[in-house]
Amino acid sequence: MRGVGKTVLLTQLRHHAEQRDWIVAHIEAGGEQSLRTLLGEALYEPLSDLDRPAAGRRLLKALKTALSFKASYDASGTWTFGVDLSTTPGGGADSGILSTDLKKIIKDVSLAAREEGVGLAILVDEAQELQDEELTTLAIVAQAAAQDDWPVLFALAGLPSLPQTLSEAKSYTERFQFTHVERLSDTDAREAIAKPASDESVTWSADALDHLVDASGRYPYFIQQFGQETWNHGEGTKIELSDAEYGVAAGRNQLDNGFFRARWDRATVTEKKYLRAMCPEGDFGIGSGEVANRLSKSVNSLGPVRANLIHKGLVYAPDHGIVAFTVPGMAAFIDRQME
Ligand SMILES: Nc1ncnc2c1ncn2[C@@H]1O[C@H](COP(=O)(O)OP(=O)(O)O)[C@@H](O)[C@H]1O
Ligand SMILES: [Mg+2]
Repeated sequence: MRGVGKTVLLTQLRHHAEQRDWIVAHIEAGGEQSLRTLLGEALYEPLSDLDRPAAGRRLLKALKTALSFKASYDASGTWTFGVDLSTTPGGGADSGILSTDLKKIIKDVSLAAREEGVGLAILVDEAQELQDEELTTLAIVAQAAAQDDWPVLFALAGLPSLPQTLSEAKSYTERFQFTHVERLSDTDAREAIAKPASDESVTWSADALDHLVDASGRYPYFIQQFGQETWNHGEGTKIELSDAEYGVAAGRNQLDNGFFRARWDRATVTEKKYLRAMCPEGDFGIGSGEVANRLSKSVNSLGPVRANLIHKGLVYAPDHGIVAFTVPGMAAFIDRQME
């Protein structure tokens, strides 16, 4: 779901890789740009950081291949690396066939990384937004990388529909390991709230802590929001229940007016009816047949509504024939809205 900490995790992974001087391409799908363009642009900076007169053979080759990759999506733009590549072998990542070009650039860059004693990390956020062909291609390249032992790591973060999309995309997915990032455990939620405070010599009273953990449902985003409001409201070195109650109320208000409202306002009247019919099971998932029943419509006639809601990122399909909200607490928010 949204707000559980996927982006935070991916960013942490990037920091670890950068600390080890890896070549890192960290991209976010879902905008106007294709995977090809996103990856190409993300690779430019780390590659240009590496070029130098004494660059090794593999690195020179990777730079030359990167130039051809750039040319494959940007006819008018070129990159300049501060080295002469005229006699260097390489290139060929501009056939226009995504799997061919991606394989070539990732192979050459990862082998250059090995020459430098490091690895290549490809990190993709909002991966559920990739086109099917792009996702398939990543799976194909990951397979090739594993077979030929290129030092490359792929990490994709996305909504829970991602594993299914990936397995529909191609039969190469046994190369991927799936980890569900969910709400925090009770212990971790308490630590996330109390530790930053105790680092500043402030303690939370037990009932204040209980209240915040309960109200947040242990979702990182809500813990952050409620915790911040409570912190700003509290005074002295002890946070009391009344501070937490204030913080939760203020935080809810903020969520209602921002996080939830922004999503609700994106829905048309018809879509709102559909969303209402998903409550109260929506946080966990409900059959689209049951939603249709409640609206006295056929599943087929609601297909486009459902598709639009998925496209807008308001709901997703955790399983075949099931719909669920992408953000926790959405059902309760909708219940608070007037018709
Ligand atoms: N490990 C963490 N440490 C601190 N804050 C976190 C952590 N994980 C999540 N958060 C909080 O939750 C918010 C949402 O996290 P984010 O990574 O953007 O979620 P997602 O990408 O899953 O939608 C962050 O802005 C931050 O406030
Ligand atoms: Mg995110």
